[in-house]
Amino acid sequence: MRGLKARRFVGVVVGLWFGVAGALADTPDIVMPELSAEAAAGQTAFVQHCAACHGEVGDGSDNGPPLIHRVYRPSHHADFAFIRALRYGSRAHHWRFGNMPPMPEVSDDEAAAIISFVRAVQRATGIE
Ligand code: HEC
Repeated sequence: MRGLKARRFVGVVVGLWFGVAGALADTPDIVMPELSAEAAAGQTAFVQHCAACHGEVGDGSDNGPPLIHRVYRPSHHADFAFIRALRYGSRAHHWRFGNMPPMPEVSDDEAAAIISFVRAVQRATGIE
């Protein structure tokens, strides 16, 4: 009995480790495309408002997840999810970085440009 319990415990720990490490290990090598004028403006706004948590090019940091990741592909997180996250913040649900705060300082135009930047980098990296 004891051996079985211990083995089950190890199984759960190993499973959790691969669950969390696996999701982050899925972060692909980012390919930077040539940016349109709008996406380039989005990159500037991204560095200003998002990079502290989501990394310089959306590759993630100790404070937040990568956005250049299959979790955030358009069919799973449509553009509206970006607008909603900026307006209302986002409760931690996919990761363990904590909540994202609302960001009222980001204008609608900046949000649109940021989305265009993130989508361009996702596409170049093969995340569709
Ligand atoms: C203070 C840190 C922080 C900043 C700044 C920040 N985010 Fe986030 N963001 C997070 C965290 C943490 C999550 C993940 C929450 C979770 O566990 O799902 C997140 C999640 C998201 C999501 C996914 C929301 C969903 O529906 O699941 C989007 C989109 C997003 N961020 C976009 C942005 C953009 C664009 C900016 C810049 C304008 C930005 N974030 C700035 C921390 C941040």
